[in-house]
Amino acid sequence: MITRLTAFDIFDPAFRANPYPVYATMRARDPVHRGRPPTPGDHDFAWWYLFRYDDVAAVLKDPRFGRAIAPALDAPAPPVPPAEREPFWDMYARWTLALEPPEHTRQRALLNHAFTTRVVEALRPTIANRAAALLSDLVPRGDFDVVADYAFPLTLSVIATLIGIPPRDLDRVKEWSLTIAAVLDYKRTWDVMAAGNRMTREFTAYLREIVAARRARPGDDLITNLLAATDGQRGLDEDELIALCVMLLFAGHETTVNLISAGALLLMENPDQLALFRARPDLTDTAVDEFLRLHSPIQATTRIAYADVTLSDRIIRRGDSVTLLLGAANRDPAAFADPDRADIARRPNRHLAFGRGIHYCLGAPLAVAQGGIALQLLFEQADWEINTAPRWSETFGFRGLQSLSVARGRR
Ligand code: HEM
Repeated sequence: MITRLTAFDIFDPAFRANPYPVYATMRARDPVHRGRPPTPGDHDFAWWYLFRYDDVAAVLKDPRFGRAIAPALDAPAPPVPPAEREPFWDMYARWTLALEPPEHTRQRALLNHAFTTRVVEALRPTIANRAAALLSDLVPRGDFDVVADYAFPLTLSVIATLIGIPPRDLDRVKEWSLTIAAVLDYKRTWDVMAAGNRMTREFTAYLREIVAARRARPGDDLITNLLAATDGQRGLDEDELIALCVMLLFAGHETTVNLISAGALLLMENPDQLALFRARPDLTDTAVDEFLRLHSPIQATTRIAYADVTLSDRIIRRGDSVTLLLGAANRDPAAFADPDRADIARRPNRHLAFGRGIHYCLGAPLAVAQGGIALQLLFEQADWEINTAPRWSETFGFRGLQSLSVARGRR
């Protein structure tokens, strides 16, 4: 029997402030939940929410679920004339995350080489130097905001350097990146959408100039490397290259900010874990995995059913949307012992914060490296205490601290 739950409302501020008790109830009582669509207009098909680790992991790997609506429709929708298309969605349609094989496979192969462990290892000194430079100003100040003053500028400058965006333009890029986060969240107003379309025009025009400059004068960056892949039948066209730069800028930034600030919070809240983190640098990577598990920066991602599928006695029909609660799966007691406890030595830790299957996060090695370096340096330099109550963002899909004010503590 299905218990009707009114408690699961992704727009309830109490849920957003602390979704984990609600996730626990849903996992136990209605793990394959038929709910309301998060955005008005998405009413043609049913909308499901999955909470259990095994269900979420299975759907992420199951080719009967995908990212595009077209394979779930009997007749393809008539093409929209270019003048009537929304610039943001036009660009988004070229993102790796939005594609299905074989297009996805082709793009992913072109991008993979830019994010190998070797590339990330070579970036480590840059990450450490930027973090140290920021801290050399922040530590003497005695108090600061981990989100705005540390994690945000650090991750933005690292991903911008990798892509080939000059440091002088970071303020503009920061605004664009914030707009993308708002558009891609589940609650999207018309104003947000209009801002997203404006941003797309400005950002793509800006990137077009950089691409032209790199064509004329190659540099040592991703744009230059991807330009080499723009020729030939299977290569990238310029619109695709630009869309991928926007995607990487966004994907590589917001989420990593949230990892670093949530990691700092968890360490300050758990002094025994902080002591271990300091004493055992060999645990840095497993610690980062634990922070990602406990406060997954991407709490939810959605798939569309390409076929009728039965899950826990419920029939998900072709065309239905299925929102996978990564944040709920990552605290499932069936998959993790004592799931609400922070244990930076936890092994194995097969969390789903980076997804699974063909869309598994391209930037996972970079995110883990950045998170580890940023947190090691932060706590190596001083003791920190939480200054004022941390504030979480009001978004649902992307969850992170809006602000984490800290003050120098006593050792
Ligand atoms: C803590 C940081 C990060 C987290 C938690 C994270 C999480 C995720 C998740 C959950 C997915 C899969 C989404 C889905 O299947 O629907 C994903 C995909 C992706 N991520 Fe990340 N990500 C992070 C950092 C990065 C970085 C640093 C980059 C690049 C610079 C990046 C680039 C991508 C790309 C390109 C995809 C799409 C891959 C594909 O479709 O094949 N991410 N990420």
